[in-house]
Parts: sequence; structure tokens; C-alpha cells
Amino acid sequence: MRAIILLGAPGAGKGTAAERVCAGTPFRHFSTGDMLREAVKQGTPVGRVSETYMQRGELVPDQIMMEVVEARIAQDPPDAAYLFDGFPRTVRQAELLEAVLVRRQGCLEHVLFLDAPREVLLQRLGGRRICRACGANFHMVNMPPREAGRCDACGGALYQRPDDQESTVLSRLDVFSRKTEALIAHYETLGLLRRIDAGGNAERLVADVMRVLAAA
Ligand code: AP5
Repeated sequence: MRAIILLGAPGAGKGTAAERVCAGTPFRHFSTGDMLREAVKQGTPVGRVSETYMQRGELVPDQIMMEVVEARIAQDPPDAAYLFDGFPRTVRQAELLEAVLVRRQGCLEHVLFLDAPREVLLQRLGGRRICRACGANFHMVNMPPREAGRCDACGGALYQRPDDQESTVLSRLDVFSRKTEALIAHYETLGLLRRIDAGGNAERLVADVMRVLAAA
């Protein structure tokens, strides 16, 4: 098992970068946020429990997250390669991921921290729109669809994620400061963390991520 982790506050561009970086590589985009939203949509037991945390902008408990992550990884061959987006988010999750890697004789190859100013995060989350049909990601100003409210890829209707409402966004940013900054310090101490300026446009962000991955 191979692993790369993308860390960053809500709106830092983890999902946007991960999609493009994985294209044409053996790495699978592993977004715990997408997996939880799918579980909510399907009404599974995990989805029903997670929904209340997600609506409040809080983290889903570590134990539930690890069940979700391990169940997903168990479906793949032992040498699968993952680009983790939004996981781990706490030091406990990082420790549990490390245990999975040891069990699978895997390797954590890179930890990239996408760092963007708070005002940029707020602007990006406020303008984000998602396609209901295929999940493609747009932004009303930064990456607008060709036709208002319609997905360029499949023509599906675009919607705003419920947790992108302003009050929930503020709570998510607060949770990031309280919980995930300890995780950044954890990887810094291990000498694994690389910081990337994620405040510019998406093309620059993807180019910077690729450059760091190629150089490391
Ligand atoms: P999750 O879905 O992971 O949300 P998040 O981490 O808050 O991250 P976002 O998806 O909001 O932002 P992003 O960094 O991917 O930005 P994006 O590329 O979309 O998690 C949702 C919830 O699930 C959590 O709150 C929690 O409750 C739960 N959860 C998930 N994982 C968990 C875990 N491990 N443990 C516990 N709970 C967990 O970009 C945002 C917008 O900006 C888009 O519109 C995009 O088009 C635009 N944009 C992106 N980059 C750029 C750029 N460089 N320039 C211009 N525009 C850009």
C-alpha cells in the first residue's frame, strides 16, 4: 500500500488538486468527505450517525472514520496507492492509519499541507457548487460553469453543499484550527510535512503539488 496525504483547511483546494493529480496515475483519490456524503445519501447506519456531525461542521468520531476507511481499503489489492483527501484529520486517525500501513507493509510517501489565507477559504466555500449527478466541482467566480446552474460535464443540476452555509463554514474552520493543527505539528515533528501555498489559482496549485511530489 502506498499513501500520500493532502492536508488543509476546508476550501484549501484538496479535492480540486487531488482529482487532477490522480488523473493518469495509479493513485486513487480517497476523499472521506465524499464517502460520508454518499453514506448519508444512501441512508446507511454510518450515514445516519455522520449526518448530524457534518451538519454542525464537526468531525465524525475517529472510531467511525476508521471503520469507514478500513472497510474501503479492504476492497482493494494490498499494493493499492491512495491520495488521501481530508483523512487523517486528527492525531488519533494518523496513528490508526500508520497501524494500517504497518499491517499492509505500506509506506507514507508524502504529507502535503495546502495553506491558504482565511479570506480565500471563505470566498471559495461561499461560491462552490457541485453537480448532483456526477459530483463535478465548480465555483461561481473562480471556475464558473458555461451555463448557469448546469454541469459542463453531464448537464446535471448544480447545488450548494449544506455545510457550505456561512455559519457551518465558520464552525468547520474553527474545528480545523482546534483539531487538525495538532496533526500538522505531528507530521512536522516526523519530518514528513511539505507546505504548499494554496492561495493562488487551481492551475498553479496543481503544478506546485506535482513539482513537490516529483522532487521529493
Ligand atoms: P470534506 O468533504 O473533506 O470537507 P473539507 O475538508 O471541509 O474540505 P472541502 O471539500 O470543503 O474543501 P477542499 O479543500 O476539498 O476544497 P475544494 O477543492 O472543494 O468533509 C466534510 C465533512 O465530513 C467534515 O466537516 C466532517 O464532518 C466530515 N469528515 C470528512 N472527513 C473526516 C475525517 N477524516 N474525520 C472526521 N470527520 C470527517 O475547493 C473549494 C472551492 O474552491 C471549489 O468551488 C473549487 O472550485 C474552488 N477552488 C479550489 N481550489 C482553487 C484554487 N486554487 N483557485 C481558485 N478556486 C479554487
